[in-house]
Amino acid sequence: MWGGRFAEGPSALMREINASIAFDKRMWRQDIEASKAHVAMLGAQGIVPAEDAAAIAQGLDTIAGEYEAEGVPEDKALEDIHMHVEHRLTQLIGPAAGRLHTARSRNDQVATDFRLWVRRANDKIDVGLEFLLKALVARAEEHAETIMPGFTHLQVAQPVTLGHHLMAYYEMFRRDRSRFADARARADECPLGAAALAGTSYPLDREATARALGFARPTANSLDSVSDRDFALDHLMAAAQCALHLSRLAEELIIWASQPFGFVRLGDDFSTGSSIMPQKRNPDAAELVRGHSGRILGELVALCTTMKGLPLAYSKDMQDDKEPVFAVQDLIEISIAAMTGMVRTVTFDRDRMRAAAASGHSTATDLADWLVRVAGVPFREAHHITGRAVKLADDRGTALWELSVEDLRTVDARIDASVYDVLSPEASARSRTSYGGTAPDQVRAQVAAAKAALGIKA
Ligand code: ARG
Repeated sequence: MWGGRFAEGPSALMREINASIAFDKRMWRQDIEASKAHVAMLGAQGIVPAEDAAAIAQGLDTIAGEYEAEGVPEDKALEDIHMHVEHRLTQLIGPAAGRLHTARSRNDQVATDFRLWVRRANDKIDVGLEFLLKALVARAEEHAETIMPGFTHLQVAQPVTLGHHLMAYYEMFRRDRSRFADARARADECPLGAAALAGTSYPLDREATARALGFARPTANSLDSVSDRDFALDHLMAAAQCALHLSRLAEELIIWASQPFGFVRLGDDFSTGSSIMPQKRNPDAAELVRGHSGRILGELVALCTTMKGLPLAYSKDMQDDKEPVFAVQDLIEISIAAMTGMVRTVTFDRDRMRAAAASGHSTATDLADWLVRVAGVPFREAHHITGRAVKLADDRGTALWELSVEDLRTVDARIDASVYDVLSPEASARSRTSYGGTAPDQVRAQVAAAKAALGIKA
């Protein structure tokens, strides 16, 4: 390739550090697709003779068939996927193969291939997230009225509905999906034709290649085209945010599956036994989703760090851009799929959740709010009165709403029997009808909106 200037070939060590074929072979489809678009344009513009362009296109199709059937061969002397394809093309069609690289450099070639790869990766994640959203909405609808404790500081705070809790994750993953869509839209420009860094003197039609590869337009600056990888970082940032959300849901499933909570039983498909303790049923899939999120974050930081000190334009450091993206793609795809499976198959223990929601005087705020709303007591005073009622319940060893109205009236004479309308966990949840609140009717409204957004019939 650059043998002309170097009398001796690269040392074995140089070959070893230089070669990227072991991983960039994952881009073979994109490399061939981009080369086909390039040579079609070169032919149409009269930059290479039409018959050579046709022979090259045909040869590229042959190579695609070979790779499809047998996989990509790995020859470190040929460095990367671009050289592998070109080398095989030369074997197949002879010297005309040498015309393919006219008006092109591996710098714009790799930037184009990688964008195409990231675009497809983005599309796959979008499909995965759609399934996850649908699974969450289905379970939320099923549990619009199921009572569970809402927590702050992992202390029982106020009763909420399980449907509401699940719809919280719907919102997070909905935003993640739109972050991926944003990343995709921003990456929708084609670097092909930027050449090594400065553009070229050939009469290219960059609009044509951009269109042929499904991009909205060509990139506007050749230096930027070959030297930025923000499209890959946008993708990783969206993935990292999504992984954080996945990890939090995984963490909740792990906690809920533990015996002291006992809120859920994970499906057989997503649990494993222990090799020594026969009674064990471990939430391994959830733990691995939580674990993978750490690695995803690490890969994001790796690529940020690779890019941050690079002068324009291309530097070979940038060959290290692919492995983080490939690794993240594998980790996030399986995490989303496993989480979708867990959400679909998990069984919720309504009784355990209800019992936990009733613990810790979780409706104390409701008593305070009732005093304000019905008895006209200022909130600070109502808070104080409620504190005394909680203490009385504790002294009696009962729940707040199990105190008799006579008992409650010893705390404050303005209390009457209508307070029980808000004191049970069900009543408390039902009363929180503010927009976005936890009341079953609100949850059903959120579910209906989500179904409409996902194109699911009501
Ligand atoms: N394998 C290289 C990469 O992934 C291709 C670009 C090589 N360009 C160069 N100027 N050496 O970055």
